[in-house]
Amino acid sequence: MSRENTNESGVPAHVAIVMDGNGRWARARGKARNAGHRAGVRATRQIVEACVERDIRYLTLFAFSSENWKRPPTEVRLLMRLFLEALQREVAELHKNDVRLRFMGDRSLLPDDLVRQMNDSEQLTSGNSGLQLNVAVSYGGRWDIVNAARSLAGAVSDGTLTPAEIDEDQFARALSLGGVPDPDLFIRTGGEKRISNFLLWNLAYAEFYFSNALWPDFDAQALDEAIDDYLSRQRRFGRTAEQVNAG
Ligand code: IPE
Ligand code: IPE
Ligand code: MG
Repeated sequence: MSRENTNESGVPAHVAIVMDGNGRWARARGKARNAGHRAGVRATRQIVEACVERDIRYLTLFAFSSENWKRPPTEVRLLMRLFLEALQREVAELHKNDVRLRFMGDRSLLPDDLVRQMNDSEQLTSGNSGLQLNVAVSYGGRWDIVNAARSLAGAVSDGTLTPAEIDEDQFARALSLGGVPDPDLFIRTGGEKRISNFLLWNLAYAEFYFSNALWPDFDAQALDEAIDDYLSRQRRFGRTAEQVNAG
């Protein structure tokens, strides 16, 4: 059993989750997709609490992708409103629990009131040292990489960086998760087995776990099952099993 990249209590340091299946959860109950998204917000709250209790250091949640802008405008509007309401409702409690909130994604496409609330929440919680909760909204892995390339190109044209200085560490620092260790455990609910343009760079060596549970049904017990599965794997990072066992 590999304990590499786990914290003292043996849980992964960084968990990244694609929260999928809200629409199907609603359809199975004869409800509108919006009801599924509301139930999804409740599940998110529980999982964040569970991560705080389990002393997970980083939790990165995929809430809305670059591609989700293609959804019907009524669904997009409802999601934006749900994000705003959830943030307004939860930020004080998150702050009390020492959670540090960070948002990642293209904010230029988001409604002004949501961006204001995101900025305020980040500022309020910036000094906290508990769970770092990264929420990806209007986020795409390709957008992130292009954004990083653009900022490095800007530094080169300003004369503060030379092309030869651009290495993997430098590039990683320019990404949205710059300074955050790569995810150890990637979870996707909803049964689909794909990344859907989530953290393309950062997932290079994550352990993947796919759950058939729809996101509104994913609870602390389901999270523990994912963590147990993660802990049963040997992470080799290119080396042989013998090398890893020899430490
Ligand atoms: C995930 O659930 C939430 C978002 C992408 C915003 P979906 O809305 O994709 O649910 P399904 O996949 O249709 O069931
Ligand atoms: C991925 O879910 C994005 C989020 C969970 C926010 P989707 O439901 O949008 O993914 P695809 O389109 O089925 O791959
Ligand atoms: Mg989906």
